[in-house]
Amino acid sequence: MTLLVTGGAGFIGSNFVLDWLKQSEEPVVTLDALTYAGNLENLQALHDDGRHTFVQGDICDRALVDRLLAEHRPRALVHFAAESHVDRSISGPGAFMRTNIEGTYTLLEATRAYWSALDDDAKREFRFHHVSTDEVYGTLRADDPPFAETNSYEPNSPYSASKAASDHLVRAWHHTYGLPVLTTNCSNNYGPYHFPEKLIPLMIVNALAGKPLPVYGDGQQIRDWLFVSDHCAGIRAVLAGGRLGETYNIGGWNEKANIDIVKTVCALLDELRPDPAGPYSRLITYVKDRPGHDRRYAIDARKIERELGWRPAETFETGIRKTVQWYLANPDWVARVQSGAYREWVQQQYDQAAQS
Ligand code: NAD
Ligand code: TYD
Repeated sequence: MTLLVTGGAGFIGSNFVLDWLKQSEEPVVTLDALTYAGNLENLQALHDDGRHTFVQGDICDRALVDRLLAEHRPRALVHFAAESHVDRSISGPGAFMRTNIEGTYTLLEATRAYWSALDDDAKREFRFHHVSTDEVYGTLRADDPPFAETNSYEPNSPYSASKAASDHLVRAWHHTYGLPVLTTNCSNNYGPYHFPEKLIPLMIVNALAGKPLPVYGDGQQIRDWLFVSDHCAGIRAVLAGGRLGETYNIGGWNEKANIDIVKTVCALLDELRPDPAGPYSRLITYVKDRPGHDRRYAIDARKIERELGWRPAETFETGIRKTVQWYLANPDWVARVQSGAYREWVQQQYDQAAQS
């Protein structure tokens, strides 16, 4: 019994691997290319843990994936590896097409060859779990009902289009070849190890550094926020009991406008790390909007609750407090991920946005 996890050194993948090994003796093999978003330090706690094996490599490398499947004989593959940042997909979509589409295709083909040769019992037990996003459904108007699994796909960014393509491949490999797949489409996550290019960690690290807090457009875009450990619990529930070929939406029942998120982060920092220069909200700066910016995401998570009994354990208030506390307690992690490459991205992205 072993899990093969792709992208396990990234934000959600590392939370998943750490949570998994807290609750299970089943070994994990992590395959991760360690792009700018991957960080082995996230898995530091497992350094001497015999249950965990780390392999640096690319999911597009078919020979490597074949070798890992043959060597470790996993009973499931949980696929997190992706390019995940919408703004980067706008300035450079190529990497998204390669990793998210070609990489998923490579994993599906390698897994199909491995799975086809398993004995009947192992074949029946095997799972390919594809981790995806609510962004494949496009954008909602203020009075639309939240995204259900039956919504049509209307991706609007290069990122969401590449994830939608990968979801379609996973679906097709089930229908055509019978590969035992599961797909989860989750809303925006937040929590420990979140790379500070995304909204919540960027606001925390910028505020602590006394830098502007860049809010795109009017700040009224809505996201449905879920604490990362709740996403991990949702994936475990679907992996254990999800129906083959089905998709499950995972969300926090927690819609908030971006500007309210930023103000909440500021208020928590005012309480936990007051700045003598004044309230952190003084740093809020409206900048040029993201091209094609989706207005609202919201998830209808009733299917996973009805079929598998999953519901988020954290409220937004408890989750965001834990998150801010984690960043305050881990300044070394923050300093180390803010490498030269990180600084270049922030400068390029926000110099352009400031020219609004
Ligand atoms: P992330 O960017 O933090 O991590 C991605 C990881 O994948 C990194 O460790 C990176 O090194 C690795 N990776 C990238 N390209 C690779 C390649 N070619 N081969 C091997 N490894 C590679 O992303 P995340 O936020 O942890 O997201 C994980 C998954 O969850 C993604 O598939 C994403 O689409 C999905 N998702 C994310 C969110 C969110 O809010 N962050 C919400 C829903 C779904
Ligand atoms: P992000 O964390 O990039 O996630 P996603 O685009 O996948 O939802 O952004 C969340 C929201 O915050 C999104 O509406 C864009 C907005 N945003 C800002 O206003 N300023 C920023 O600097 C960033 C990174 C995001």
